[in-house]
Amino acid sequence: MIETFELTKKYDEKAVVNNLNMKVESGEIFGFLGPNGAGKTTTMKMLLGLVHPTSGTGKVAGFDIIKQVLDVRRSCGVLPDPAGFYDNLTARQNLKFYGSLYDLDDDDLKKRVDATLDLVGLKDAKDKKIGKFSKGMKQRFGVAQAIVHDPQVLMFDEPTAGIDPQGAEDFRVLMRQMKERGKTVFLTSHVMPEVEAICDHIGIIVNGEMKICGNVDELVDQYSRRQGYQLKLRVKDIDEDVVRNSLKSIVGVISIARNDGFFLVNAKEDVSEDVSRSIIREKGVITELESYRPSLNEIFLNVTRPTGGC
Ligand SMILES: Nc1ncnc2c1ncn2[C@@H]1O[C@H](COP(=O)(O)OP(=O)(O)O)[C@@H](O)[C@H]1O
Ligand SMILES: [Mg+2]
Repeated sequence: MIETFELTKKYDEKAVVNNLNMKVESGEIFGFLGPNGAGKTTTMKMLLGLVHPTSGTGKVAGFDIIKQVLDVRRSCGVLPDPAGFYDNLTARQNLKFYGSLYDLDDDDLKKRVDATLDLVGLKDAKDKKIGKFSKGMKQRFGVAQAIVHDPQVLMFDEPTAGIDPQGAEDFRVLMRQMKERGKTVFLTSHVMPEVEAICDHIGIIVNGEMKICGNVDELVDQYSRRQGYQLKLRVKDIDEDVVRNSLKSIVGVISIARNDGFFLVNAKEDVSEDVSRSIIREKGVITELESYRPSLNEIFLNVTRPTGGC
């Protein structure tokens, strides 16, 4: 549903988005992550035809982002700036105005406005003035405005920034509903638990380059392959030197450390089966053996570290 081919944007010869190749499947929620200044907003603006790429191109909903900008825009819903709503008009009046910008006849428009406000949870606030809305309600209204013309793709830039935890949770529920309705959601964020909770796929961009991309399990796997797999092992009825020697002889083991009664094994691949076999062969008893799984936050911090990370 969204695809880029070597998409590049340079400002003053500096590439802020650099040969980006990315694919977002239809009906998924894709989380586009990266530190401030990584190039997320610039990428999104290029996808919407608001910034002209220096080179490369892309497609949104089957339309070329350079040659078919109007079709792309009609296929997309974006969150507007809440400051742009008319405070003196009600939610219904506001949404009717935005909806009238699309080719809908009056009856259709009326139905869509009502249905959309119901969908985003503003059923009881339809005739309330937007100026009286809380931040969370304004955000819901923003989603209503984004979807009133029933677009296939939703592109939200930092949608939960500045929203309280309840508002952010409501937003996540709404995004899942959008997905159930077959929409494709592309959002930028740097709130890791949120991304982990709702995104099917995640891409992390640093200095305009995609560093790592996949579902959470794939990210963990890619990261572990580069950083090494970690194992935590506790044994009894076996001599420490014997343990060390047998672990050392396992192919793929990089280092062995001792911490708080545990052996910490760093390896190029998942060696847990070889580890348990070798301890049992030496007549030792394993009381604990667990692979260490890095969190998305840990992966993000490492990948985005200014020193280069992995
Ligand atoms: N119009 C512009 N002119 C010059 N530099 C820009 C412009 N827009 C963005 N940049 C630079 O491009 C980089 C990426 O910005 P942006 O896409 O907004 O990052 P993000 O959304 O990931 O925080 C930043 O270094 C920013 O200063
Ligand atoms: Mg941004």
